Amino acid sequence: MIIAIDGPAASGKGTLARRLARHFNLPHLDTGLLYRATAYAMLKKGEDLADHAAAVAAARGLNLSTLDPELLRGGEVGQAASIVAAIPQVRAALRDLQRDFASTPGGAVLDGRDIGTEICPEADIKIFVTASLSARALRRANELYGQTAEAHLATIRDEIQARDERDANRAVAPFHAAPDAVVLDTTELDRDGAFAAALSIVDVQARPLAS
Ligand code: DC
Repeated sequence: MIIAIDGPAASGKGTLARRLARHFNLPHLDTGLLYRATAYAMLKKGEDLADHAAAVAAARGLNLSTLDPELLRGGEVGQAASIVAAIPQVRAALRDLQRDFASTPGGAVLDGRDIGTEICPEADIKIFVTASLSARALRRANELYGQTAEAHLATIRDEIQARDERDANRAVAPFHAAPDAVVLDTTELDRDGAFAAALSIVDVQARPLAS
């Protein structure tokens, strides 16, 4: 069973994908980390994010087993990831790696922006996780700044909005819901509520698999 989870920044898709993977005992790939790691490698070397050849080399040089989510999770890396993710050759360089992961015998859970549309259009389950911009900004601010979240809210909101726009308007694999994805709006849901809703979606979408 392949489960494709797509959604914008801070929608809760990563948490949900990890939890579904644990529940169904499937391997999980956070594909945003691939774009983040590509951008991070370039930033570290002082390379220009608009340098397509350098970006492709960075993408090809990635090693799935050494990705460090802690190192890659900041807002600056997220913005940079969104910039390199708009380069068609970078997307092409990362495609096979994601498809190979998806073809793990028994299935896999992948989360990102184009899993249901480009990477695994044949996925058995497709969930498009979303939430209002304010809810997403608040979550991300709490995650990154805890007690002092309020002070960072406006900046984070602007960053997320800029990223949403760039991801949705790029020429290749623009971010949108697959027509056959079920939309899960988590604005009013806590983590447990979102997980319960996702399980119901899996249950309904997986029925044809069982028959
Ligand atoms: O999910 P995230 O915030 O870690 O993703 C960082 C950036 O990577 C995001 O702004 C767009 C890009 N991305 C993408 O284009 N396609 C994916 N499947 C995953 C992420």
